[in-house]
Amino acid sequence: MSRTVYLGQDCYYVGASDMRLSRFENMIPLTHGVSYNSFLILDEKTCVLDTVDRAVVQDFIANVQNVLDGRKLDYLVIQHMEPDHCAGIVELLRLYPEIKLIGNTKTFMLLKQFRGVEVPDQQIIVKEGDVLDLGKHKLQTIMAPMVHWPEVLFHYDQYTQTIYTADAFGCFNYLTGSVWSDQVNYDEYWLPEARRYYLNIVGKQGANVEKVLKKAEDLEIKQIMPLHGVFHRDPEIIAKLINLYKTWGSFEPEEKGIVFVYSSMYGNMEALCLKLSDLLAERGIGPIGMYDVSHTDESYILTECFRYSHAVFGVVNHNTQLYHKMDAFLHLLAATNYSKRKVSILASKSWGGQAAKQAREQLEAMKGIEIIGDTFEILSTYNEETQAEALAQLADQICESFNA
Ligand code: FEO
Repeated sequence: MSRTVYLGQDCYYVGASDMRLSRFENMIPLTHGVSYNSFLILDEKTCVLDTVDRAVVQDFIANVQNVLDGRKLDYLVIQHMEPDHCAGIVELLRLYPEIKLIGNTKTFMLLKQFRGVEVPDQQIIVKEGDVLDLGKHKLQTIMAPMVHWPEVLFHYDQYTQTIYTADAFGCFNYLTGSVWSDQVNYDEYWLPEARRYYLNIVGKQGANVEKVLKKAEDLEIKQIMPLHGVFHRDPEIIAKLINLYKTWGSFEPEEKGIVFVYSSMYGNMEALCLKLSDLLAERGIGPIGMYDVSHTDESYILTECFRYSHAVFGVVNHNTQLYHKMDAFLHLLAATNYSKRKVSILASKSWGGQAAKQAREQLEAMKGIEIIGDTFEILSTYNEETQAEALAQLADQICESFNA
């Protein structure tokens, strides 16, 4: 069914949401689906910015045809060739055979790789600063490599002072009729998912995010249009999001706080984590979060680890090695460039004690991770009589680093 939203100044929303998708990239759990955003500008020339995922391509095509209302489509701007945005390209080429495609050399390489499409006579290859003139609307090219793929482009509409930002500033959750962030309860409902989206999808590319934000610094930005989630036009929300992106891009923690991440088959490591968290709370440290790697999806735990300044990892052995879900989580942190954080290690020595060694090696190999205190080890269970003093000492060390 066609469902479009007029966004003002000749621009229409022609994307659609998959309200049932349970895992983004077949990996990250979703509770409220995801939207695949696409925009259509009706000017002297007509232009679509990006298409959608195959799950909603029929709705997208109906939306484009509905808004064009018999006009021909002149341009398709391809900001991002990841398959969640390029399933409608072939269909648009079929319906509008004279359409010109806007991208860079990598865009067209990926178009051939993913869709088997080569249309050299219809390609317009753009570079930094090139402007696509639609009439009143003039789309200025901003190269944004590796935010999140190598071919990514942003566009700045000089007429409306709108920046189209591909995956950046995107968010999980489907769109309802309220498509602007100032029309929804943004901080409560959307921001946590914007954070989880950024840190799990784009987060590793912080240096590239910083570069593109720097390039956009001189632009007057009145609207931000990402390829997923709500759009932004409220100056306060825009300023807040740009500041958050600067923080996230720099890998600095968003705020002070401690995240416990543990594995525990029979509750003994869990009990030790709770004991240490009590000691930290008594010393005025907080907020404190606590996550079992076997219980909470890694995308949520990773988000919390990046959000806060400190982490405590509670590790145990399984098959005489580091419990594999913790092993996998530490690899995920390394792969996403976890850095600029202070961490401590609690470990069980049972079954050979490899967990402590392997976890410490993984954390030490992460650039910019400072390990606070020695690894605090237990033999099966924490012994209050013999270990209370040592645990209190670790709490003091964490406290000192927290307040430094
Ligand atoms: Fe929404 Fe990088 O694709």
